[in-house]
Amino acid sequence: MSNTKKTFSRRALLRTLIYSTIALSGSTAYATSDNLEILHTDVPIEGLPAALDGFTIGVMSDFHAGALGNNEVCLNAIQAMHELKPDMITLAGDFVDGANSHDAENIHNSMFLFQELETLNAPFGVFAVLGNHDHWADSKHVTELLTAKNIPVLNNRNIRLANGLILAGVDDLWEGPGDIRKALRGVESEKHINMLSHNPDINEDLIHDSSVSLVISGHTHGGQIRAPISHWAPWVPCGPRYTGKTGLIFETAQRRSFISKGVGTFLLPLRLFCPPDVAVLHLRSVKV
Ligand SMILES: [Fe+2]
Repeated sequence: MSNTKKTFSRRALLRTLIYSTIALSGSTAYATSDNLEILHTDVPIEGLPAALDGFTIGVMSDFHAGALGNNEVCLNAIQAMHELKPDMITLAGDFVDGANSHDAENIHNSMFLFQELETLNAPFGVFAVLGNHDHWADSKHVTELLTAKNIPVLNNRNIRLANGLILAGVDDLWEGPGDIRKALRGVESEKHINMLSHNPDINEDLIHDSSVSLVISGHTHGGQIRAPISHWAPWVPCGPRYTGKTGLIFETAQRRSFISKGVGTFLLPLRLFCPPDVAVLHLRSVKV
């Protein structure tokens, strides 16, 4: 082999090594990234009144504030929501991390979150439901903190906004318990109700319901650690229906659900192929 060929060969090998290293670094950065994903999702709803067409709903869930590695992403998510300026903001539970149940430290470590949540503002309000971790920490205390920051907690009750939109909140399915009959009390004959429920399994209880057209949830963290493309995850804390599924789901002809991947992490301060998200849902009226 000539010297020229040897030189070319070494250069080619070196170039391949450099490119491979860059590519590997890039994919690793993506795989473990905790960079926020900002989602804009159209939600087509048959027969939605014109007054609600284009209404925007901000969604954040599963802060797990105070748990290892979560605080910065919590602050980033709230800043992102400020900039997105939706008409209404919904917070789908697990504000605190309740891994050590009923330990006052859980709340103490997450006080910064409640101070930041107070800065959120939306023309039609900011609303919350509790998650299982809020219950495991101290549901009464979390409710008091949110209420004190002008964020009503819709624990099995509903509210009608000035534009006619009804938002029904369900307490956590595991620990509340969640009760859709109470949540829909007084509005059973209405249509196009939006429901906020930490756990997406609430959809199983809505099989015979025709009043709810959108369910907003979190809880699953998207699996948190999952495979690329298929989004298979070794553990998702809900029914098998939602394994590998996040974002917008067409549950029935008239009902949609949206599952946030959440902001924080549980147990391990790690996400794999599953970045945290902040979402804005755009309600779209579709002709029947
Ligand atoms: Fe969670």
